[in-house]
Amino acid sequence: MNEPTKPQSPLPIGRTYPITDHTFDVVVLGAGGAGLRAAVGCAEDGLQTACISKVFPTRSHTVAAQGGISAALGNMGEDDWRWHMYDVVKGSDWLGDQDAIEYLCRNAPAAVYELEHWGVPFSRTSEGKIYQRPFGGMTTEFGKGIAQRTCAAADRTGHAILHTLYSQALRHRAHFFVEYFALDLIINSEGRCTGVVCLKMDDGTIHRFNSRIMILATGGYGRAYFSATSAHTCTGDGSAMVLRSGLPLQDMEFVQFHPTGIYGAGCLITEGARGEGGYLTNSEGERFMERYAPTAKDLASRDLVSRAMVLEIREGRGVGRHKDHIFLHLDHLDPKILKERLPGISESAKIFAGVDVTKSPIPVLPTVHYNMGGIPTNYHGEVLTKKDANPDTIIPGLMAVGEAACVSVHGANRLGSNSLNDLIVFGRAAALRACALVKDGALPEPVSNSASLALDRLDRFRWASGSTPTARIREKMQRVMQEHCAVYRTGELLAEGSGYLTNLWKQMSDIKVFDRSLTWNSDLIETMELDNLMCQAIATTDSALSRTESRGAHAREDFPERDDVNWMHHTLCWFNEAGGSTTIDKRPVHSYTLTSDVQYIPPKKRVY
Ligand code: FUM
Repeated sequence: MNEPTKPQSPLPIGRTYPITDHTFDVVVLGAGGAGLRAAVGCAEDGLQTACISKVFPTRSHTVAAQGGISAALGNMGEDDWRWHMYDVVKGSDWLGDQDAIEYLCRNAPAAVYELEHWGVPFSRTSEGKIYQRPFGGMTTEFGKGIAQRTCAAADRTGHAILHTLYSQALRHRAHFFVEYFALDLIINSEGRCTGVVCLKMDDGTIHRFNSRIMILATGGYGRAYFSATSAHTCTGDGSAMVLRSGLPLQDMEFVQFHPTGIYGAGCLITEGARGEGGYLTNSEGERFMERYAPTAKDLASRDLVSRAMVLEIREGRGVGRHKDHIFLHLDHLDPKILKERLPGISESAKIFAGVDVTKSPIPVLPTVHYNMGGIPTNYHGEVLTKKDANPDTIIPGLMAVGEAACVSVHGANRLGSNSLNDLIVFGRAAALRACALVKDGALPEPVSNSASLALDRLDRFRWASGSTPTARIREKMQRVMQEHCAVYRTGELLAEGSGYLTNLWKQMSDIKVFDRSLTWNSDLIETMELDNLMCQAIATTDSALSRTESRGAHAREDFPERDDVNWMHHTLCWFNEAGGSTTIDKRPVHSYTLTSDVQYIPPKKRVY
């Protein structure tokens, strides 16, 4: 097959890039669930709204979300948003901010009904209500029973939601800029964010978006690891821009490993599979989760299940030739249920593991899935930094939502199916705030500030002519993260990993980019994505090294206990580009609720 012909870059060589300016009230960067929900909210309220995406909107990673969106609808048994709140606080291992958790759980039912009215084709009960399945850590009556709270569209819930949101955004005339790669934020001399500079990837032109409010919805950075359920596009571009702007990221040490990634391939097998009755076994055929979580068993929280799987493998009870993975059984379930409720993963198991789920178990392994950490925000989506000892200083004009953000509702460990509701609830909250700010005249129309920092960075990589190909450095970084910052960590392992990463950061100055054109140049884009990933990888290992306790997904073998006396704090991490080093500080966890409808839930031992 012939390669498509690459058009020549229309741009001159060197520093004189022509810039096309665009001005909007709000610019949303990212067109996944959170970005689209924010864009819909702003556009329907009459704001001039742009949505910029590096992929076609319906290819954003939300499309891969499978099992569902949790909300206490009570369609399949009694439920209450306060029970949901209790589960999220416990799931977060008490690191979540309880004001934000209250906001999430209280608003989740309305968010789901809104999606239903906009056209999301949810699966149905025999009475025609939205179907809800059990998911890990979701209980009734503050931990007593098992809740069926996760609203599902078979095992393609994210796909259904994303397509619905995109059509709503078009309906409200949001302006889409598709296949634009964001280079850097523009922060003016007063510390206000006034927009973003982007490269339009199909023709190589440079675009400056000036906005009163910039909403970052750029997702997580799962691709810092070798094996992840995340799409290849999940390179945390917005979070890296925040670091480069001299602002901190929060709680980066908390990386979620999903218990059931397909062994070898890393593709997701939804937790909904265990919600529908699937279970894990070791080489002795034992349902080992009964030992680790006597009540919830296979539906314990993800951090606990992933640790149990790793321990089974370490103790020689892994399955397969190398005894290095675990089996997930669905073969006892009614094939009709599998066809109706789990068609997508039945197909994935066939394609990626060669398994017919009606007959054989699926080989699975804990796989990087989600970043609890990210850009610190309040529950309105406003970006926070710590300045002059004030841990909640707001950066004017800058907001963040979705996986890119750390609100923080998930704290040290997210419960499955609490991602999609986070996207919708906080996407809407950010839109409400943005509309109020714009209408109040709080943020005047921005003037076009200099784009030179962004263009300097572009030039640095475009002309990089060292000796190390991007792919080589990327693979080394991914392997360091996989080995040194995994389900279990030690100070020694993390310190070694951090040293390797700092060296790799320095090696970036010896990188070789093979193609100088700005059009269709995947080598250049992948290099800038690697640059984005690398600073977040370093922030992750350094934050993990600094937290000398075990909490949620951060399991330190040298500090095995949770330490509420010293560590009821979020970690803040700043990045120093020059040396690849970090500065670490803390921000207190919010130990208050939003209203008097619920009380603060004090920490206790976390058992399932
Ligand atoms: O297992 C899943 O379906 C993933 C859901 C989630 O991460 O929320």
